Amino acid sequence: MSTNVNIDWSKLGFAYSKTDLRYISIWKNGKWDDGELVEDNKLNISEASTALHYGQQCFEGLKAYRTKDGSIQLFRPYENAKRLMRSCSRVLIPEIPIDKFVDACLQVVKANEAFVPPYGTGATLYLRPYVIGIGDNLGVSTAPEFLFGVFCCPVGAYFKSGLAPVNFMISDEYDRAAPYGTGDVKVGGNYAASLLAHEHAVEKGFADCIYLDPATHTKIEEVGAANFFGITNDNVFVTPKSPSILPSITKYSLIHIAKEYLKLEVQERDVPINKLSDFKETGACGTAAVISPIGGIEYKGKLHVFHSETEVGPITKKLYDTLYGIQFGDVAAPAGWIVKVK
Ligand code: PLP
Ligand code: COI
Repeated sequence: MSTNVNIDWSKLGFAYSKTDLRYISIWKNGKWDDGELVEDNKLNISEASTALHYGQQCFEGLKAYRTKDGSIQLFRPYENAKRLMRSCSRVLIPEIPIDKFVDACLQVVKANEAFVPPYGTGATLYLRPYVIGIGDNLGVSTAPEFLFGVFCCPVGAYFKSGLAPVNFMISDEYDRAAPYGTGDVKVGGNYAASLLAHEHAVEKGFADCIYLDPATHTKIEEVGAANFFGITNDNVFVTPKSPSILPSITKYSLIHIAKEYLKLEVQERDVPINKLSDFKETGACGTAAVISPIGGIEYKGKLHVFHSETEVGPITKKLYDTLYGIQFGDVAAPAGWIVKVK
């Protein structure tokens, strides 16, 4: 066990590193076992597992935060638990009880406490719960057994650090999800479908791409790994409503913050791609992304710049400061949002 960690917290990116212990639980003969913490970060599973061939799997992402007084807290883990249940039922995986999910996350954070970055570094401990179909299986059918795991690693920024704006391009060539497909649940296939579009965007110098609605290609859906929001010229917080985007827990938290803390009007509605000039600020939001201000969006060869390509807009900054303050324990959180680890 390596409890003496030697990490330069300020240099962390969003990357995997092996921590001490991870949680594993197996579903067999109709029920989940109690689960346990293990040292080995390799899984030994059948070559015929449905997760490997038919994408029968789903996952989550949430973070543990170190507060000023040295305690550790999770942000809205019950929401991740509920979303994982929805993802499970969409791909015929037996549901993980909500309390089992939260308990597994708590166990993993406690067992890896030395890897929770210190307060003030901006870094966090990222938790990756996942469920995969395992066991011998050949035809396209649900797996005979399942594995639920949670591992963690300390991480820094997903896009650029802090509040540096990033540019995105519209993906007009590829969709990440189908109209009645799996875009609204967190299954690996959505991400496999996004890899090529992401690579093209990065090759062209963009942080990632923004997808349009798969049926008409006229409305903004979301970024590959984050939801989209905008602030209109008359100060309305707007975010897309669509059956094929992932319901982001960060996005719903920002909706609450915009309404209750910033006293802004909020609209969840269609966001036509030809109405970018309605917005003075836009951003991408998610657990990994936190809030990344969008400097500009390229569509059909033309870059539309919002507030600035180098500076965060004032409303995005207020949203970020409030969210960040709640997550790190400096701003009072709405009831139920924070779960203390220790
Ligand atoms: N959209 C996609 C496709 C994502 O992968 C994520 C990340 O989880 C999000 C949005 C943001 O969701 P959340 O705020 O719950 O992390
Ligand atoms: C997250 O924000 O937690 C995600 O899962 C996004 C990405 C790393 C897949």
